[in-house]
Amino acid sequence: MMHRIGVLTSGKDAPGMNAAIRSVVRSGIYEGIEVIGIKYGFHGLLNETMEKMDAASVGSILQKGGTILQAYTSEEIVTEAGQEKAIENLQKHGIDSLVVIGGKEALRVTASLAEKGLPCIGIPATIDNDIPGVDEAVGFDTALNTVMDYIDRIRDTASSHEKSSIIEVMGKDTGNLALSSGLAGGAENILIPEKKEDIEDIVDKMKKGPSGAMRYSMIVVAEGSVSGNDLNVRLKEEAGIESRLTVLGHTQRGGAPTARDRILASRLGAYAVELLLNDESGKLVKVENQQPVSQPFNELFSQKSQIDENLYDLSGRLSI
Ligand code: F6P
Repeated sequence: MMHRIGVLTSGKDAPGMNAAIRSVVRSGIYEGIEVIGIKYGFHGLLNETMEKMDAASVGSILQKGGTILQAYTSEEIVTEAGQEKAIENLQKHGIDSLVVIGGKEALRVTASLAEKGLPCIGIPATIDNDIPGVDEAVGFDTALNTVMDYIDRIRDTASSHEKSSIIEVMGKDTGNLALSSGLAGGAENILIPEKKEDIEDIVDKMKKGPSGAMRYSMIVVAEGSVSGNDLNVRLKEEAGIESRLTVLGHTQRGGAPTARDRILASRLGAYAVELLLNDESGKLVKVENQQPVSQPFNELFSQKSQIDENLYDLSGRLSI
C-alpha cells in the first residue's frame, strides 16, 4: 500500500502541467495518501527540494501555463549513480512512488527508475507531441491553438499586402506541431523534417495557384526541418520570392491551457494515482478512444515517433 507519492515536472514546461500536478495532488489526498511536490524536476530530487502539498497548495493553478514545480533538466539523473541517489533520496523522505510529468527524456529516466524497482508512472507532457504511441501529450492542443491563432493573424496582413510569410514553429526534431497547425491554419506549404519538401516545391505551388499563379504563400516551417531565416534568404536568392519571417519561439510554449489540455491533464493525473494504488508501475498513461489507458514504457520506446501521413496528404490536397 502506497503512503506517500512524489510528483515532479521535468524537461521543458508545457501548458497543462499545472492541471496534471493539481490532479495528482488532489486525487492522492482524496485517497488518503500524502503527496510530496518535488521542485526543480530531477535536479530537485537529487538535491532534496521537496515539500508536502495540500489541497489548497494547488488552488488556482489549473488555468495557468508553465509549472509551479519548475521544469528542469538534469545531467546527473541519466547516470546510474544519479538514479541510485534519486531512489535513496525518495526512501529517505518516506516517498514510496513517483509520478513524472514531462517529455520523452523525462519518461526515459522514469522507465529506468521503474526498472530499478521504484514504483513510477509517467504523464506525457510536451508541445512537440513526439512520444511514440501517444496520440496527444499534455500541452500539444494549447500550443497548436496558439500557433493557429498566429497563422490567422499573419495571414490577415500577408493577404492584404500579397506578401508571402514564413512562420517558424517549434517541435524539436519532429514536425507534428507544424503539420497540425499548418493544416488548421490553411498553410500553402508545410516543411517538416519527416518530408523532403523544399524551395522548388514552394515555387512550383506558387506558379500553379487557382488563377494561374498564387499571389502569396503561407509557409509553415518546423524548426527541425530548416531554419526560417535560411529559408527566407534562399527563397529570395534562388527564386526571387520576398517573404516576411516570424519565429514564434517561446510564445508557443506559454499561455493558459485549453479546455482540452486541462481535461486531458486532469484525467491522466488521477489515473496515474489510481495505477500506483493498484501496484502498477513502469507505465505511461494516455487517452485512447476517450478512455485513459496505460502502456509499458518498453513498448513505447521500441517504437519511433511518426507524423500522421493522412494529415500531411490532406494538407497538400487542400492547399492547391
Ligand atoms: O521540447 C519543447 C521545446 O519547446 C522544443 O519545441 C524546442 O526545440 C525546445 O523545447 C526549445 O528549448 P529552449 O526553451 O531551451 O530553447
